[in-house]
Amino acid sequence: MISRKTWTALALAALLPVSAAADEFTAADVERWQAQFDEVAAEGRSLWTDSALGTNGVVCAQCHPNAANTHPETYPKFQKQLGRVGQLWEMINWCIRNPLEGENLAADDPKMIALQAYAYKERRGVPLAPGKH
Ligand code: HEC
Repeated sequence: MISRKTWTALALAALLPVSAAADEFTAADVERWQAQFDEVAAEGRSLWTDSALGTNGVVCAQCHPNAANTHPETYPKFQKQLGRVGQLWEMINWCIRNPLEGENLAADDPKMIALQAYAYKERRGVPLAPGKH
């Protein structure tokens, strides 16, 4: 009888191409990936002062300079505005809809990813504290 663990290993070996299974990467890859992250975070930094996210000229930085008081490390958590446990991007949309009077961004919209990349980058090194108020 083949154990469940062996089955899983066999199934994975059959499904994954060798390169993916080996998961090899070089220092140059890491440098390129970091540069791509930094580029997306920089895009988020400029969106933070971009009134085109809304319709009334208000920008994120007016209330959250340098992403202050966004607490990305506390998500997911209960937020009063959502009435349930939600994600960071849902609160970003809440602010886009309310103070900025704009339209929701999809969770995987490159602008939403950039806004979050910037907020997280500003909080680098702060311990994760999901659910914290
Ligand atoms: C007019 C002021 C104002 C503007 C402009 C504004 N926000 Fe907010 N933001 C708030 C308030 C008020 C809250 C709710 C605070 C709370 O209860 O946590 C909030 C909450 C948040 C939170 C959750 C904070 C937490 O502690 O969990 C995030 C993230 C956030 N805003 C991001 C943004 C982004 C991104 C923009 C621009 C698209 C933006 N905000 C624009 C006032 C503003």
